Amino acid sequence: MLASPKPRVYHLYMAKILIKDGLLVDTEWARHQDLLIDGSKIVRIASDIDEAGLEEVTVINADGLCVLPGLIDAHTHYHLVSRGTVTADSFAEASRLAAFGGVTTVVDFADDDKVSLSSSFEKRRGEMRPMGIDYALHMGVYAYREDIEKELEEVKAKGIGAIKIFTTYRNVGYLIEKREELKKVFASCKKLDLMVCVHCEDNDVIEDIDKKWKGTYLPKDHPDMRPAKAEAEAIRYVGSIAKELDMPVYIVHLSSKEGLEVVRKLRNDGVHLIVETTPHYLFLSREKLEGPDGPLYVMTPPLRTKEDNEALQEAVVNGEVQVVATDHCAFTRKQKLESNDVRTIYPGIPGTEEMLPLLHTFGLTQGHLSLSQIVNLLSTGPAKIFGLYPKKGSLAEGSDADIVLFDPDWSWTVEGEKLHSASGYSCYEGMTLTGRVVMTLLRGRIVMGDGIYLGLEGDGQYVKSRGQ
Ligand code: URP
Ligand code: ZN
Ligand code: ZN
Repeated sequence: MLASPKPRVYHLYMAKILIKDGLLVDTEWARHQDLLIDGSKIVRIASDIDEAGLEEVTVINADGLCVLPGLIDAHTHYHLVSRGTVTADSFAEASRLAAFGGVTTVVDFADDDKVSLSSSFEKRRGEMRPMGIDYALHMGVYAYREDIEKELEEVKAKGIGAIKIFTTYRNVGYLIEKREELKKVFASCKKLDLMVCVHCEDNDVIEDIDKKWKGTYLPKDHPDMRPAKAEAEAIRYVGSIAKELDMPVYIVHLSSKEGLEVVRKLRNDGVHLIVETTPHYLFLSREKLEGPDGPLYVMTPPLRTKEDNEALQEAVVNGEVQVVATDHCAFTRKQKLESNDVRTIYPGIPGTEEMLPLLHTFGLTQGHLSLSQIVNLLSTGPAKIFGLYPKKGSLAEGSDADIVLFDPDWSWTVEGEKLHSASGYSCYEGMTLTGRVVMTLLRGRIVMGDGIYLGLEGDGQYVKSRGQ
C-alpha cells in the first residue's frame, strides 16, 4: 500500500534580519534602535547595530516606521462550524487577513463536545493545522460532569491556559445552569491555575424579554432583545462566584456602560476582574442595525448606543480594560443577508485586520492613547494574561521574532472588498484611518510585506500556555 504523501512545509527563514532605524515600541518604552533577528528569535536590540560585522544579513530599513511586537487577537472564531453553516474565513484565509493586520498569534476556541474535553481539544487543534500564523486555544466548557477537574487537568497538560463559559445560549446547550455546578468548575480552574473567560449575558433576562416580546425581530430590535442589563446581571453573577472563591475572572467582549459600572463596583469590592472589549463596541453603535444592511452588523452581544461607546473608550484610556480583541466570526455578505430576522441571522462579524489601525486612529484623534498602551492592549496584555509571555507579546532578546512594521502616518479609507476576509465586507467601510501595517514577520520569517502575503499554510505553530 502506498504511504500517503507528507504535507510539505517550507521554512524560508533568512539567516539574519536587521531592522534598522525604526521606532521600537514596547509597553514600557519606545526608542529609536535597531533590532537583530537570528532564525526565529530576536537576538539583539541596540543603537546602531553595524551590519558590516554580520554574515548573511538582510537589512530592512524601518526609517519612519514603528516596530511593534506581533499582535495577538485573543478572541477569534475562525472556520467555525455552527448553525448548519461554516464561517467565511478558512484557517488559511484567516491567517492571511491576520498577517495583513499585524496579527501573528490568535487565541481561538475548542468547543466542548460534552464527552471529553481532551478529544474536543484534539479535534480543534487538528483542524487548525493549516494555520499560517501561530495559535493558542481556549477550552469551552458547556456542561458540568463529575470528573470535570480531571478533564481540565488533561487539557491543561496539552497547553490550555483558559476555559470559556457562557451565561446564555441555553437553547443551543452552552449554559451550565446550576450555580453550584458552575462554582465547582470555577473552583477546579482556581486549583489548576486556569483562567475563566465568560461571555456575559444573563439567560433569564433574555428569555423573559423573549417571552413577552410583541415587536418585530429586525436587526434594529436586537439590542432591546439582549439589553445591557443582561450583560450587567451576568457580570454580577460570575463576579459573585469569583468573590466567594477569591479568584480572577476574564470578561470577554464587554459591550455596555451598565456592564462596565458593575465591573467598577465589583472591583471596588475587591473582585479581580480582567476585561476585554472589542473595536465594534468601541466604535460602532446600534444605528448601524437600521436599514437593509442591518444584518451585516448583527453579533452577540449586540451593538449599543454612542453613550456606551464613549464609556468603553474612556475605560480603555483609563486602563480599566486590559485587552482589546476582535471576536472575529465572519460570515459572507450573502450569508448575513439571507435573513432579516435576528433569530436566524448568523451572529458575528469580521475584524482582525482592522484592529490596529482602528485603535491607532482612536489613540491619535481623541483617545490620548499612546502606541505603548496600544501594544499593551493588543499584544503584551493578552500574552501575559494567557501565559504566552515573553515568547509572545514582547520586543526583547530571546522572544519570538514576531514583528510588525507599522506606518503611523499612512492615511487610508476602509474598503471591505480590498481587505482580505472572505466575508467581502468591513463593518468600518468608508472610515478614514491613520496608520497601516506594511510588514509582518512571524518567528523571523516575513509573512506579509508591501501588500503581498507570504505566509505558508501549515507553518503556524500551536503555542502552549505558560510555557508548558
Ligand atoms: O456573535 C458572536 N459574537 N459570535 C461569536 C460567538 C460569541 O458569542 O462570542
Ligand atoms: Zn461571546
Ligand atoms: Zn466570541
